[in-house]
Amino acid sequence: MKKINLNSELEELSPEELDYIEQALLSRAQTIAKIAYAPYSGFLVGAAVLLENGEVLQSSNQENVSYPVGTCAERLVLGYAGANYPTSAPVMMAIVAQRAGEEGWAEVSPCGMCRQAINESENRFGKPITLLILRANGNVLRIKGISELLPLKFDKLTN
Ligand code: THU
Repeated sequence: MKKINLNSELEELSPEELDYIEQALLSRAQTIAKIAYAPYSGFLVGAAVLLENGEVLQSSNQENVSYPVGTCAERLVLGYAGANYPTSAPVMMAIVAQRAGEEGWAEVSPCGMCRQAINESENRFGKPITLLILRANGNVLRIKGISELLPLKFDKLTN
């Protein structure tokens, strides 16, 4: 028996350590999170994506009374990006969340399905997507590509 360890590298930055583009992308995600449609969970999520061409797109989560029909902010914005900008790679995504009625920001991390969707976008365009995740303490996790969050990922149908 051989043990295999899969390691991930995440960076945690204080707000002052972020560059202007990173701050702006987080700010877009915060603004859109505030108008999320999340009446069932009360968990308001915002995701903003920077495309290679400089365009910024954003979405919130959109829930449904039939719960599984609801869709996460990350998959909505990536789907829109892929449909409308099929030649421009998403290169960075900011993700933030807030509980309805609360002031501060909540801890959040993309769900498994969204990780797989981010992986698909990376493979489609051949570019890693840097993830910026706002923490409840105000710091930001910077993750250079979905491989760090999705070890042993399902990547291709054939060898
Ligand atoms: N949600 C997102 O939109 N993104 C995440 O990263 C975590 C979860 C949504 C799904 C659902 O509408 C609500 O948050 C609670 O799970």
